[in-house]
Amino acid sequence: MHALIKAMNHQVKIKDKTFEISISANEIDSAVSKVAEKINTELADENPLFLVVLNGAFMFASDLMKKVNIPCEISFVKLASYEGTVTSGIVKELIGLNESLAKRTVVVVEDIVDTGITMQQIIERINIHKPKAIKVCTFFHKPEALQKDIKLDYIGMEIPNKFIVGYGLDYDGQGRNLAEIYTLIQ
Ligand code: IMP
Ligand code: MG
Repeated sequence: MHALIKAMNHQVKIKDKTFEISISANEIDSAVSKVAEKINTELADENPLFLVVLNGAFMFASDLMKKVNIPCEISFVKLASYEGTVTSGIVKELIGLNESLAKRTVVVVEDIVDTGITMQQIIERINIHKPKAIKVCTFFHKPEALQKDIKLDYIGMEIPNKFIVGYGLDYDGQGRNLAEIYTLIQ
């Protein structure tokens, strides 16, 4: 039995849930182009370091970086949670940081900013390395869900506060490979 079934063209079933297409690949592509244009204009002289947050941002980053035409570097990071010592509890660490961030303009590339808790943690971890500036670039943003005071410099699309899959985003590990966005049917 396949975990992911395209029941009809406009619906997918993943495990126990059904999702319906809500954003086409063409709409995604236009939004990516707009983000790239803004970055090309604003960061042309910055030689930015793009830090792509895995796993979710892999597809957006791949599309975005093909449209970014300024000098830049690209690297990949991941937020790993693990049980720390008895006193500290759950510790989140940003793994994969090999480049020196000191005096660099760092652009964090994320798939989605929902509550903003994840992004705030990432920004805190990056700040330790004393970059020149941190810019936040997220493809999706759910304004109604945001709980943290974070400046989002580059946003692909603002979406309603509903659960989505596709374009890098998963439900229980599945659906990241979908080229369109599918929204959970309530
Ligand atoms: P936040 O910390 O609440 O901003 O959530 C960030 C993380 O939650 C994202 O990086 C995603 O991995 C996940 N997430 C938030 N909303 C969705 C969604 O609608 N679909 C899939 N994953 C989501
Ligand atoms: Mg993510």
